[in-house]
Amino acid sequence: KKVVLAYSGGLDTSIILKWLQVTYGAEVVTFTADLGQGEELGPARRKAEMLGIKQIYIEDLREEFVRDFVFPMFRMNALYEGVYLLGTSIARPLIAKRLVEIAHETGADAIAHGATGKGNDQVRFELTAYALDPNIKVIAPWREWEFKSRTDLIDFAEKNQIPVPRDKVGEAPFSVDANLLHSSSEGKVLEDPAKEPPPYVFMRTIAPEEAPDTPTYVTVGFEKGDAVSVDGVRLSPAELLTKLNELGRDNGIGRIDLVENRFVGMKSRGIYETPGGTILLAAHRAIESLTLDREAAHLKDSLMPRYAELVYYGFWFAPEREMLQALVDRSQEHVEGEVRLKLYKGNVIVVGRESPKSLYSDALVTFEDDRGAYDQKDAAGFIRLNALRLRTLSARKRRFS
Ligand code: ARG
Ligand code: SIN
Repeated sequence: KKVVLAYSGGLDTSIILKWLQVTYGAEVVTFTADLGQGEELGPARRKAEMLGIKQIYIEDLREEFVRDFVFPMFRMNALYEGVYLLGTSIARPLIAKRLVEIAHETGADAIAHGATGKGNDQVRFELTAYALDPNIKVIAPWREWEFKSRTDLIDFAEKNQIPVPRDKVGEAPFSVDANLLHSSSEGKVLEDPAKEPPPYVFMRTIAPEEAPDTPTYVTVGFEKGDAVSVDGVRLSPAELLTKLNELGRDNGIGRIDLVENRFVGMKSRGIYETPGGTILLAAHRAIESLTLDREAAHLKDSLMPRYAELVYYGFWFAPEREMLQALVDRSQEHVEGEVRLKLYKGNVIVVGRESPKSLYSDALVTFEDDRGAYDQKDAAGFIRLNALRLRTLSARKRRFS
């Protein structure tokens, strides 16, 4: 039996690796992706080697992640439950896709992941895997093994010569997931939603109160709905998001503290940091405000919560997400130009936007002489016809009250 494991090199996935070897007698192939989590991948390789792994896949997926997952999602301005920029949700389909591909390349019959049985991530990994291969087997050790506590896990690690970092001997502090789009922290000290998170939870932004007293100005350029430049410098998708992350970090941008509804049913409290994504969302909405037709914009906005829900639930590789994507992509044809923003102590303030494809018309909107571009008399008939139903209704109301 051969299993491809999503392996971070951390304690938990190392335990999972060993557990797969011991319980299934499996030959394990490890897959470690650089999604911009900001961790060295060298140690993951060394640990996998130490655990006797022969096939070790380590891949830099940052460009693919931003180009084919993050950017398409940002064309929709997707926000789950009004606040969550979906930083973890959008990374899972890419990881699962590579797991399945590597399973095919190496002749493995199963994939395995380290998501717990209580969360969304197990659903996202597995829905993706089955969407791409109907016969793939999935092993989710957290749902199968007998360990009851952190202590059981540590005992197993020690019995199997897996080094346990000293700070991991007690309880794990809280659970973290990070990539180029965001960092998320959940659990332990954060579990009481009434309590403000301690400062050490934050890992990729400075506090707004510590940010500079002078604002930072930045210009983001767009083509077909995707950001392509920062301050006039063309950048690849991953470079661009990295740049916006730096600007966001230094200005305390993109921290959120939320309670969200998990797909599996319970509510959970999270602390997320999405510095670059928060700037990107504001910039994208601003360039759309100039270049999108009103009804196109409203239709797109009405579908946004549905799209966000699909991404959150893990239905990336599903016909309904792909249909919505086609609609959104079509809407972005003329979404180009530049947006100027002011970053100041946790705030992203749009201060200017311009586009060669702009639908904004000085001539139409001006309160000065419009030289015949718009006839105010037309508005009288427009209002009269729109009021027709309302007048009929109000007349009936009078008669019967
Ligand atoms: N609740 C977020 C989501 O479902 C993040 C989950 C992973 N984060 C973590 N700290 N383990 O997308
Ligand atoms: C997990 O359960 O592994 C993390 C949280 C989640 O997936 O929602």
